[in-house]
Amino acid sequence: MKDLSTQYLGLQLKNPIIVGSCGLTNSLAKIQEFAENGAAAVVLKSLFEEQILAELNHNVKSWTVDYPESYDYVREYTRDNVVSEYLELIREAKKNAEIPIIASINCVSSDEWVSFAKSVENEGADALEINISLLPSDPKKKSEDYEKIYFDVIENLSGLISIPIALKMSKYSSALANLVSRLSWTGKVSGFVLFNRYYRPDFVLENLTVQSASVFSTPDEITIPLRWIALLSGMVDEDFAASTGVHDGEGVIKQLLAGANAVQVVSTLYKNGAPHIKTMLNELEEWMDKKSFNTIDEFRGRLSNK
Ligand SMILES: Cc1cc2nc3c(=O)[nH]c(=O)nc-3n(C[C@H](O)[C@H](O)[C@H](O)COP(=O)(O)O)c2cc1C
Repeated sequence: MKDLSTQYLGLQLKNPIIVGSCGLTNSLAKIQEFAENGAAAVVLKSLFEEQILAELNHNVKSWTVDYPESYDYVREYTRDNVVSEYLELIREAKKNAEIPIIASINCVSSDEWVSFAKSVENEGADALEINISLLPSDPKKKSEDYEKIYFDVIENLSGLISIPIALKMSKYSSALANLVSRLSWTGKVSGFVLFNRYYRPDFVLENLTVQSASVFSTPDEITIPLRWIALLSGMVDEDFAASTGVHDGEGVIKQLLAGANAVQVVSTLYKNGAPHIKTMLNELEEWMDKKSFNTIDEFRGRLSNK
């Protein structure tokens, strides 16, 4: 029996496999199923900035009165009391699943939504993952304008919450090593998740329309986060979780060799179901056995750039 335990965001995880934020982490039953199948932690489905703002803003009607479309948009988001349901999910998950629960917020600004983070902490979330959705497509904005959002968000959150903060990064950054180093210097971030996987448009040649490419990754997509974790993990002290393209035990091992503290898996669980976590853990143990490693720390970071 190998020791698969690892530290991530100051949390002691029994193994390196975390279920990443997705539609599957939106229900207590699913979270429990993942926990029963060996998941070390779960990142809840993200709550979106617009959802939080809509529920925080008591006079939502007055600020949207000139823009009926935006009111419809807000109403659409708030009709199910998503925010209070989210807090309830954290509470229930903490009570019923004996693994760390990481809340997730998806944002595009450092706006007033940050006050909501306190409620997430109060409900018992073990950490908060912030997914800052930056697609630098505005020709009027410079890289600094986009990067400033990361700094503003963590500045606004620090002092407000004491649970660890992980930043789920966009791979569309012109100088990622510099950005991650500067974020590290703030001393306010506990970890980085590389990377967010954006919605990908694709074209239908038959009728000249746009459609969504597959929302699921393929195993070969692991190479981009693998490169960046190998480059960055020895450069800063914060933890790294790999996201995108980890589909099997081999993917888990590669990311650990690059220096990741943990991996997040999503697409492979949609395809293979929760029991696949056990399969990945068995593959990791078998490989460790073959290589005579007893703990993750004996090989973590062996193939990092450092
Ligand atoms: C259906 C679906 C829903 C997702 N929802 C979220 C979300 O709410 N917040 C988030 O940060 N990432 C979300 N993701 C992205 C995943 O967390 C992950 O970063 C991405 O799928 C790449 O990992 P994978 O290769 O293991 O699938 C979603 C992915 C899928 C497939």
